[in-house]
Amino acid sequence: MNNIYEYSAQNMEKAAATIQNGGLVAFPTETVYGLGANVYNAAAVASIFAAKQRPHFDPLISHIAEVDFLNEYAATDERVFALAKRFWPGPLTFVLRRIDENPSIDLACSGLRTLTVRMPNHPIALELIRKSGVPIVAPSANKYQSVSPTTAQHVAEGLGDKVDMILDGGACKVGVESTIIDLTGKKIVMLRAGGTAKEDIEAFLGERIDVSIGSPTIPTAPGQMRRHYAPHNTLRINITEPAQDEYFIGFGAVDGNLNLSPSGNLKEAAANLFAYLRLADTNAEHGKIAVAPIPTSDLGLAINDRLKRASSK
Ligand code: TXA
Ligand code: MG
Repeated sequence: MNNIYEYSAQNMEKAAATIQNGGLVAFPTETVYGLGANVYNAAAVASIFAAKQRPHFDPLISHIAEVDFLNEYAATDERVFALAKRFWPGPLTFVLRRIDENPSIDLACSGLRTLTVRMPNHPIALELIRKSGVPIVAPSANKYQSVSPTTAQHVAEGLGDKVDMILDGGACKVGVESTIIDLTGKKIVMLRAGGTAKEDIEAFLGERIDVSIGSPTIPTAPGQMRRHYAPHNTLRINITEPAQDEYFIGFGAVDGNLNLSPSGNLKEAAANLFAYLRLADTNAEHGKIAVAPIPTSDLGLAINDRLKRASSK
Protein backbone atom coordinates (compact mmCIF):
# COMPACT_ATOMS: atom_id res chain seq x y z
CA MET A 1 0.00 0.00 0.00
CA ASN A 2 1.37 3.39 -0.94
CA ASN A 3 -0.05 6.05 1.33
CA ILE A 4 2.53 8.75 0.53
CA TYR A 5 0.92 11.80 -1.08
CA GLU A 6 2.69 14.54 -3.01
CA TYR A 7 1.81 18.13 -2.22
CA SER A 8 -1.26 19.32 -4.18
CA ALA A 9 -4.34 21.37 -3.38
CA GLN A 10 -6.46 18.25 -3.73
CA ASN A 11 -4.29 16.17 -1.40
CA MET A 12 -4.30 18.97 1.19
CA GLU A 13 -8.13 19.00 1.10
CA LYS A 14 -8.16 15.24 1.55
CA ALA A 15 -5.68 15.45 4.44
CA ALA A 16 -7.68 18.18 6.21
CA ALA A 17 -10.87 16.13 5.82
CA THR A 18 -9.04 13.08 7.21
CA ILE A 19 -8.00 15.07 10.31
CA GLN A 20 -11.52 16.45 10.78
CA ASN A 21 -13.01 12.96 10.50
CA GLY A 22 -10.73 11.46 13.14
CA GLY A 23 -8.07 9.94 10.90
CA LEU A 24 -4.28 10.08 11.22
CA VAL A 25 -2.15 12.17 8.85
CA ALA A 26 1.64 12.20 8.98
CA PHE A 27 3.00 15.54 7.86
CA PRO A 28 6.36 17.27 7.52
CA THR A 29 7.57 19.92 9.94
CA GLU A 30 10.95 21.63 9.94
CA THR A 31 12.14 19.28 12.73
CA VAL A 32 10.83 15.77 12.06
CA TYR A 33 7.64 14.30 10.57
CA GLY A 34 4.67 14.37 12.93
CA LEU A 35 1.82 11.86 13.29
CA GLY A 36 -1.18 14.17 13.43
CA ALA A 37 -4.73 13.99 14.76
CA ASN A 38 -7.52 16.38 15.70
CA VAL A 39 -6.82 17.47 19.30
CA TYR A 40 -10.55 17.44 20.13
CA ASN A 41 -11.15 13.89 18.91
CA ALA A 42 -10.21 11.59 21.80
CA ALA A 43 -10.62 8.43 19.69
CA ALA A 44 -8.23 9.81 17.08
CA VAL A 45 -5.76 10.82 19.79
CA ALA A 46 -6.03 7.33 21.28
CA SER A 47 -5.17 5.85 17.89
CA ILE A 48 -1.92 7.86 17.87
CA PHE A 49 -0.83 6.17 21.09
CA ALA A 50 -1.85 2.79 19.63
CA ALA A 51 -0.06 3.31 16.30
CA LYS A 52 3.16 4.37 18.05
CA GLN A 53 2.78 1.83 20.88
CA ARG A 54 3.38 4.78 23.16
CA PRO A 55 2.25 4.83 26.81
CA HIS A 56 -0.66 7.14 27.61
CA PHE A 57 1.28 8.95 30.34
CA ASP A 58 3.45 10.59 27.67
CA PRO A 59 1.64 13.77 26.55
CA LEU A 60 1.51 15.17 23.01
CA ILE A 61 2.41 18.53 21.50
CA SER A 62 -0.45 20.59 20.01
CA HIS A 63 0.56 22.25 16.75
CA ILE A 64 -1.09 25.57 16.04
CA ALA A 65 -1.03 28.11 13.21
CA GLU A 66 -2.33 31.16 15.12
CA VAL A 67 -0.95 32.48 18.42
CA ASP A 68 -4.50 33.49 19.45
CA PHE A 69 -5.28 29.85 20.20
CA LEU A 70 -3.25 30.20 23.38
CA ASN A 71 -5.76 32.62 24.93
CA GLU A 72 -8.41 29.93 25.01
CA TYR A 73 -6.36 27.20 26.63
CA ALA A 74 -3.32 28.44 28.44
CA ALA A 75 -2.19 30.88 31.08
CA THR A 76 -0.20 33.43 29.14
CA ASP A 77 1.79 36.53 29.94
CA GLU A 78 4.10 38.96 28.19
CA ARG A 79 7.01 36.54 28.39
CA VAL A 80 5.05 33.83 26.53
CA PHE A 81 4.02 36.19 23.74
CA ALA A 82 7.50 37.70 23.45
CA LEU A 83 9.03 34.23 23.04
CA ALA A 84 6.32 33.29 20.54
CA LYS A 85 6.95 36.45 18.56
CA ARG A 86 10.68 35.81 18.44
CA PHE A 87 10.77 32.02 17.89
CA TRP A 88 7.48 31.05 16.18
CA PRO A 89 6.98 29.60 13.74
CA GLY A 90 9.96 27.47 14.69
CA PRO A 91 11.41 24.54 16.62
CA LEU A 92 10.53 25.75 20.12
CA THR A 93 7.76 24.15 22.21
CA PHE A 94 6.18 25.71 25.29
CA VAL A 95 4.76 23.88 28.28
CA LEU A 96 2.06 26.18 29.69
CA ARG A 97 -0.51 25.93 32.44
CA ARG A 98 -3.91 24.84 31.11
CA ILE A 99 -6.86 27.10 31.88
CA ASP A 100 -9.57 25.29 29.90
CA GLU A 101 -12.01 22.73 31.27
CA ASN A 102 -12.32 20.87 28.00
CA PRO A 103 -12.15 17.13 28.76
CA SER A 104 -11.78 16.24 25.08
CA ILE A 105 -8.15 17.33 25.20
CA ASP A 106 -7.36 15.49 28.45
CA LEU A 107 -5.98 12.48 26.63
CA ALA A 108 -3.69 14.60 24.43
CA CYS A 109 -2.39 16.21 27.64
CA SER A 110 -2.20 12.82 29.41
CA GLY A 111 -4.45 14.24 32.10
CA LEU A 112 -1.89 16.84 33.11
CA ARG A 113 -2.89 20.42 33.83
CA THR A 114 -0.36 21.62 31.28
CA LEU A 115 -0.66 22.26 27.56
CA THR A 116 2.32 21.64 25.32
CA VAL A 117 2.24 23.70 22.17
CA ARG A 118 4.26 24.94 19.20
CA MET A 119 3.84 26.62 15.82
CA PRO A 120 5.88 24.64 13.27
CA ASN A 121 7.85 26.42 10.57
CA HIS A 122 6.74 24.44 7.55
CA PRO A 123 4.27 25.58 4.88
CA ILE A 124 2.60 22.16 4.57
CA ALA A 125 2.15 21.83 8.34
CA LEU A 126 0.71 25.34 8.65
CA GLU A 127 -1.63 24.84 5.70
CA LEU A 128 -2.85 21.53 7.09
CA ILE A 129 -3.59 23.07 10.51
CA ARG A 130 -5.42 26.03 8.94
CA LYS A 131 -7.45 23.87 6.53
CA SER A 132 -8.36 21.41 9.29
CA GLY A 133 -9.48 24.31 11.47
CA VAL A 134 -8.24 22.62 14.67
CA PRO A 135 -4.94 22.31 16.51
CA ILE A 136 -3.22 19.11 15.44
CA VAL A 137 -1.57 16.97 18.10
CA ALA A 138 1.48 15.23 16.74
CA PRO A 139 4.28 13.21 18.23
CA SER A 140 7.15 12.25 15.97
CA ALA A 141 5.80 9.76 13.39
CA ASN A 142 7.81 6.73 14.51
CA LYS A 143 7.34 3.74 16.79
CA TYR A 144 7.91 4.55 20.46
CA GLN A 145 11.62 4.85 21.35
CA SER A 146 12.86 4.30 17.79
CA VAL A 147 14.71 6.70 15.46
CA SER A 148 12.60 9.73 14.47
CA PRO A 149 11.57 10.16 10.80
CA THR A 150 12.95 12.98 8.66
CA THR A 151 11.46 11.82 5.34
CA ALA A 152 8.05 10.51 4.22
CA GLN A 153 9.73 7.16 3.41
CA HIS A 154 10.95 6.85 7.01
CA VAL A 155 7.36 7.26 8.20
CA ALA A 156 6.11 4.63 5.76
CA GLU A 157 8.83 2.20 6.88
CA GLY A 158 7.97 2.61 10.56
CA LEU A 159 4.21 3.02 10.63
CA GLY A 160 3.02 1.69 7.24
CA ASP A 161 -0.74 1.44 7.00
CA LYS A 162 -1.30 2.51 10.63
CA VAL A 163 -1.49 6.04 9.20
CA ASP A 164 -4.19 7.07 6.72
CA MET A 165 -2.07 9.54 4.74
CA ILE A 166 1.57 10.61 4.69
CA LEU A 167 2.07 14.07 3.19
CA ASP A 168 5.45 14.28 1.48
CA GLY A 169 7.37 17.51 2.08
CA GLY A 170 10.86 16.20 1.37
CA ALA A 171 13.61 15.97 3.98
CA CYS A 172 13.21 17.98 7.21
CA LYS A 173 15.62 20.92 7.31
CA VAL A 174 16.32 21.00 11.07
CA GLY A 175 16.35 17.25 11.62
CA VAL A 176 16.09 17.06 15.42
CA GLU A 177 12.92 17.66 17.44
CA SER A 178 11.93 21.00 18.90
CA THR A 179 13.48 22.39 22.05
CA ILE A 180 10.93 22.18 24.89
CA ILE A 181 10.81 24.82 27.61
CA ASP A 182 8.58 24.82 30.66
CA LEU A 183 7.03 28.26 31.15
CA THR A 184 4.78 27.34 34.07
CA GLY A 185 7.13 28.66 36.72
CA LYS A 186 8.96 31.87 37.44
CA LYS A 187 12.19 30.40 36.16
CA ILE A 188 12.21 28.90 32.66
CA VAL A 189 13.34 25.28 32.55
CA MET A 190 14.53 23.50 29.41
CA LEU A 191 13.00 20.02 29.32
CA ARG A 192 14.46 18.85 26.00
CA ALA A 193 17.35 20.19 23.96
CA GLY A 194 16.34 20.54 20.33
CA GLY A 195 16.24 22.58 17.16
CA THR A 196 16.35 25.97 18.88
CA ALA A 197 19.74 26.54 20.52
CA LYS A 198 19.68 27.18 24.27
CA GLU A 199 22.14 30.01 23.63
CA ASP A 200 19.64 31.75 21.33
CA ILE A 201 16.87 31.58 23.93
CA GLU A 202 19.21 32.88 26.63
CA ALA A 203 20.48 35.70 24.43
CA PHE A 204 16.90 36.75 23.75
CA LEU A 205 15.85 36.61 27.42
CA GLY A 206 19.06 38.09 28.71
CA GLU A 207 19.26 35.37 31.37
CA ARG A 208 20.41 31.79 31.80
CA ILE A 209 17.78 29.07 31.73
CA ASP A 210 17.81 25.94 33.88
CA VAL A 211 18.07 22.48 32.38
CA SER A 212 15.91 19.69 33.77
CA ILE A 213 17.78 16.48 34.41
CA GLY A 214 14.53 14.59 34.81
CA SER A 215 13.99 11.04 35.83
CA PRO A 216 15.53 8.43 33.55
CA THR A 217 12.55 6.08 33.76
CA ILE A 218 9.51 8.24 34.51
CA PRO A 219 8.97 10.88 31.83
CA THR A 220 8.09 13.73 34.15
CA ALA A 221 9.94 15.73 31.54
CA PRO A 222 9.77 15.14 27.79
CA GLY A 223 11.89 12.78 25.78
CA GLN A 224 13.80 11.93 28.89
CA MET A 225 13.43 8.20 28.79
CA ARG A 226 16.93 6.84 29.06
CA ARG A 227 16.62 4.72 25.93
CA HIS A 228 15.13 6.56 22.97
CA TYR A 229 15.90 7.33 19.32
CA ALA A 230 17.48 3.90 19.29
CA PRO A 231 18.79 2.04 16.26
CA HIS A 232 18.71 -1.78 16.32
CA ASN A 233 22.49 -2.10 16.46
CA THR A 234 24.63 -1.24 19.46
CA LEU A 235 25.95 2.30 19.40
CA ARG A 236 29.06 3.80 20.98
CA ILE A 237 29.56 7.55 21.17
CA ASN A 238 32.50 9.96 21.48
CA ILE A 239 34.73 7.61 19.49
CA THR A 240 37.82 8.72 17.58
CA GLU A 241 39.29 5.25 16.97
CA PRO A 242 36.48 2.89 15.96
CA ALA A 243 36.95 -0.87 16.21
CA GLN A 244 37.54 -2.80 12.97
CA ASP A 245 34.01 -4.17 12.94
CA GLU A 246 32.20 -0.92 13.75
CA TYR A 247 30.32 1.13 11.18
CA PHE A 248 31.64 4.62 11.86
CA ILE A 249 29.75 7.91 11.63
CA GLY A 250 32.23 10.78 11.55
CA PHE A 251 32.01 14.50 12.17
CA GLY A 252 34.29 17.26 10.91
CA ALA A 253 37.91 16.17 10.59
CA VAL A 254 37.11 12.76 12.14
CA ASP A 255 36.00 10.94 9.00
CA GLY A 256 34.08 7.65 8.85
CA ASN A 257 31.90 5.53 6.59
CA LEU A 258 29.59 8.55 6.70
CA ASN A 259 30.30 12.07 7.93
CA LEU A 260 27.52 14.10 9.62
CA SER A 261 29.22 17.29 8.44
CA PRO A 262 32.70 17.27 6.88
CA SER A 263 32.97 21.02 7.53
CA GLY A 264 31.97 20.59 11.19
CA ASN A 265 28.68 22.46 10.79
CA LEU A 266 26.29 21.51 13.61
CA LYS A 267 23.13 22.49 11.72
CA GLU A 268 24.13 20.22 8.87
CA ALA A 269 24.96 17.43 11.34
CA ALA A 270 21.55 17.75 13.02
CA ALA A 271 19.79 17.60 9.66
CA ASN A 272 21.66 14.38 8.76
CA LEU A 273 21.58 12.70 12.18
CA PHE A 274 18.48 10.48 12.06
CA ALA A 275 18.85 9.54 8.38
CA TYR A 276 22.48 8.51 9.02
CA LEU A 277 21.53 6.45 12.07
CA ARG A 278 19.07 4.61 9.83
CA LEU A 279 21.70 4.13 7.11
CA ALA A 280 24.17 2.87 9.69
CA ASP A 281 21.52 0.45 10.94
CA THR A 282 21.11 -1.09 7.48
CA ASN A 283 24.84 -1.09 6.68
CA ALA A 284 26.52 -2.13 9.92
CA GLU A 285 27.69 -5.64 9.05
CA HIS A 286 28.64 -6.63 12.56
CA GLY A 287 25.73 -5.02 14.34
CA LYS A 288 27.92 -2.26 15.73
CA ILE A 289 27.91 1.49 15.18
CA ALA A 290 30.30 4.13 16.53
CA VAL A 291 29.94 7.92 16.34
CA ALA A 292 32.64 10.58 16.50
CA PRO A 293 32.61 13.29 19.21
CA ILE A 294 30.27 16.22 18.55
CA PRO A 295 30.70 19.59 20.32
CA THR A 296 27.97 20.38 22.85
CA SER A 297 27.38 23.99 21.86
CA ASP A 298 24.43 25.23 19.77
CA LEU A 299 22.58 22.32 18.08
CA GLY A 300 25.31 20.01 19.38
CA LEU A 301 23.45 19.86 22.69
CA ALA A 302 20.43 18.25 21.00
CA ILE A 303 22.62 15.96 18.87
CA ASN A 304 24.51 14.70 21.93
CA ASP A 305 21.27 14.22 23.83
CA ARG A 306 19.84 12.04 21.05
CA LEU A 307 23.07 10.05 20.67
CA LYS A 308 23.38 9.46 24.40
CA ARG A 309 19.87 8.02 24.56
CA ALA A 310 20.38 6.04 21.35
CA SER A 311 23.49 4.48 22.88
CA SER A 312 21.76 3.60 26.15
CA LYS A 313 21.11 -0.09 26.71
O1 TXA B 1 9.80 18.73 16.89
C1 TXA B 1 8.94 18.20 17.59
O2 TXA B 1 8.70 18.56 18.74
C2 TXA B 1 8.16 17.03 16.95
C3 TXA B 1 7.35 17.60 15.79
C4 TXA B 1 6.43 16.57 15.17
O3 TXA B 1 6.64 18.73 16.21
N1 TXA B 1 7.31 16.42 17.92
C5 TXA B 1 7.78 15.62 18.91
O4 TXA B 1 6.81 15.05 19.70
O5 TXA B 1 8.96 15.43 19.08
P1 TXA B 1 7.09 13.81 20.67
O6 TXA B 1 5.76 13.43 21.19
O7 TXA B 1 7.84 12.77 19.94
O8 TXA B 1 7.94 14.42 21.80
C6 TXA B 1 7.34 15.35 22.69
C7 TXA B 1 7.85 15.18 24.08
C8 TXA B 1 7.50 13.84 24.69
O9 TXA B 1 8.70 13.24 25.12
C9 TXA B 1 6.61 14.17 25.90
O10 TXA B 1 6.98 13.40 27.02
C10 TXA B 1 6.89 15.62 26.14
O11 TXA B 1 7.22 16.17 24.88
N2 TXA B 1 5.78 16.40 26.71
C11 TXA B 1 4.68 16.78 26.05
N3 TXA B 1 3.87 17.48 26.86
C12 TXA B 1 4.47 17.57 28.07
C13 TXA B 1 4.14 18.17 29.33
N4 TXA B 1 3.00 18.84 29.48
N5 TXA B 1 4.99 18.06 30.34
C14 TXA B 1 6.13 17.37 30.19
N6 TXA B 1 6.49 16.78 29.03
C15 TXA B 1 5.68 16.87 27.98
MG1 MG C 1 9.39 11.33 19.59
